[in-house]
Amino acid sequence: MTLAQGSMEFISVDDYARHAGEHLAPTAFDYYRSGAHDERTLARNKAAFSDYELHYRVLVDVSRRSTVTTVLGHSVASPILVAPTAFHRLACEAGELATVRAAGRAGTAMCLSTLSNTDVEEVTAQASGPVFFQLYVYKDRGATQALVGRAVDAGCQALVLTVDAPLLGTRERDVRNRFQLPSGLSIRNMLADGLGDLPADVADSGLAAYFATLLDQALTFRDVEWLASISPLPVVVKGIVRPEDAARAVEHGASAVVVSNHGGRQLDDSPATIDVLASIVDVVTGGAEVWMDGGIRRGTDVLKALAIGARAVLVGRPILWGLSVSGEEGAAHVLEILRAELDLAMALCGCPSVSDITRDLVRRRG
Ligand code: GLV
Repeated sequence: MTLAQGSMEFISVDDYARHAGEHLAPTAFDYYRSGAHDERTLARNKAAFSDYELHYRVLVDVSRRSTVTTVLGHSVASPILVAPTAFHRLACEAGELATVRAAGRAGTAMCLSTLSNTDVEEVTAQASGPVFFQLYVYKDRGATQALVGRAVDAGCQALVLTVDAPLLGTRERDVRNRFQLPSGLSIRNMLADGLGDLPADVADSGLAAYFATLLDQALTFRDVEWLASISPLPVVVKGIVRPEDAARAVEHGASAVVVSNHGGRQLDDSPATIDVLASIVDVVTGGAEVWMDGGIRRGTDVLKALAIGARAVLVGRPILWGLSVSGEEGAAHVLEILRAELDLAMALCGCPSVSDITRDLVRRRG
């Protein structure tokens, strides 16, 4: 047990969020915590959960409970997955290696970002659960294809294609800080292609400049098919808030969609993900899964998303806060806090298993 785990200061995800800044360089803290522009979507993702009430069932035998489920056919100890987030070595020395070990300890899956500070092969070598590879498509399709090939060869189990970032949203703190990676850190998986460093000679965010110059702004639904055709892995399309986009992604070969607005970091005033989840669940058919992220900070948030029809949720910043406070231990503890809170919420809602979490449990207020 770590100091953080043993201490009453760290009993919730928000405890980690409150203390993370003490352990981070100010520019790194700003990068992790920022949302786009006025950060209204960032705030709304979280706040919207309080509009949903839990109409719990009573007198159900909940003496034996399980949070176990499957995602894309992989068994996981809980429906709480690690979202893809960039640059984990800003949070702790072991970076993505700490994250994958924490995910393994929690019995869950990790989505590894293209913008990882660690090579994908090193990450999967330390994995004891599924690793899904989050993909940004570069204008250089050869480099993109090589990256996909590396993810496949390294043993990743799915490709998570992010589609809400043709350009990077404006995070004003990063602009003011002229965000750059500290020396010694890079986008490891792209180093061999000469795409591993952020451009240094820019007047604002180095990451925004990287996106503008190197990522493919011409991506369309046809590229979902292209991606499905170049590897044996299932494709998950992440960054959807409209039902018709979800349906089209599935028509074009997606095995799952992620209802996500990129943690409020891309288009401000995009809707809170919990508010659009039902409309997307209702159109996605044919066995495709719906995952969601954005604002999950409590087990009750997880239960609400599952009740509305999500197969799983992903958590991003909470993992970064755990890593920042105490590395692998902190990230593992964050996952355990959320799993334990979900287990309690299930008990109090009369749900012995994840399949008992049905839509009638949740009603939007007002
Ligand atoms: C990268 O994906 C970011 O949101 O900064």
